Amino acid sequence: MLRWLSRNFLVDLGSYKTVVYSVDEGIVFNEPTCLAFRRERGKEVLVTCGLEALECLGRAPEGIEVVFPVKNGVIVNFKAAQVYLQRVFDRLGKSFIFPHANRIYVVVPSFLSDVEKRTFIDLFGEFGKTVKLVPSSLANAIGANLRSYSSKATLIVDIGGGKTEIVVLSLTDVVFMSSLRIGGISFDEALVNFIKREFLFQIGELTAEQIKKSTLSLVAELDTTATQVRGMNLESGLPASIALSSHDLRMAVFDLINLIKQSILMVLESSPPELAGDIVSSGINLVGGGAYLRGLSEYLERELQVKTQVIKNAHIVSICGLAKIFSEPELHQLVA
Ligand SMILES: Nc1ncnc2c1ncn2[C@@H]1O[C@H](COP(=O)(O)OP(=O)(O)OP(=O)(O)O)[C@@H](O)[C@H]1O
Ligand SMILES: [Mg+2]
Repeated sequence: MLRWLSRNFLVDLGSYKTVVYSVDEGIVFNEPTCLAFRRERGKEVLVTCGLEALECLGRAPEGIEVVFPVKNGVIVNFKAAQVYLQRVFDRLGKSFIFPHANRIYVVVPSFLSDVEKRTFIDLFGEFGKTVKLVPSSLANAIGANLRSYSSKATLIVDIGGGKTEIVVLSLTDVVFMSSLRIGGISFDEALVNFIKREFLFQIGELTAEQIKKSTLSLVAELDTTATQVRGMNLESGLPASIALSSHDLRMAVFDLINLIKQSILMVLESSPPELAGDIVSSGINLVGGGAYLRGLSEYLERELQVKTQVIKNAHIVSICGLAKIFSEPELHQLVA
């Protein structure tokens, strides 16, 4: 247990998933940021958290509520976030007698207000002796190996579960930034709503996420064969299945993808000419789980006429960046 006191953790408490990296052991936790509660005599009783809680979505018996404490990158339910982290850190060895780890570094959205940052500090202060917040712009740049030693600008687009951050960096300084409350979860919701409206067919959010990964494509060349999806026929009120094509799904998320495209365009247009020139030559770099949307890089490249690439291990780039910042003394000073 004494070992707990000297452990250092790096954490990404995302709108969709939480990753905890132990400095000695690497990634020790990587599960959805959600909890399932049951209401008993007016009180909320924790049933489970993480992956098991996510799997309750749409399946849970009456009375069980699935809660996401982080929305659009911001802590919206402090109590639930506390319970969640308690569970996570309990699993990793925290005890009642030794509640504090040594240092905890937390990657947070670059757009947080001081009050929102304070909430992160207060939350993690219960688990670590020292807590440091690291903006995702910096963690992503380091994690994606895009921190250039010249002053050439780079553009990073982080499409997470609940938000999209578009950041222009020169060295490690943010030159320009724009953010949207759109992410993978918005794509899932758009799929559910579109299929309900156009096909009078109800699917669950987990099914939506599944077909987003398996069948949705943003460019026709990468279309897959249609997929058979189970849900409820809203006309008959009976369970049924329906065939959905990549094209159908593309229509559902088209407006959201266009909002992201327009924001990148706006950032390009608002950058001083030299920086815009740097970006056009270095390209657009996609990170976050949303970067894996089939055909996204091809679509943006075609529409914006700027080379676009998905960074390797896009979904864990920020935690990898945090790990480098923590372990390399020269980078460590950036957050000292
Ligand atoms: N292969 C894939 N295709 C499409 N979307 C994917 C794929 N893999 C993961 N995603 C989506 O990526 C999203 C999660 O991304 P990420 O893990 O970067 O989010 P997060 O860091 O928790 O959220 P945020 O940064 O917005 O707070 C989910 O909506 C998930 O469905
Ligand atoms: Mg994220």
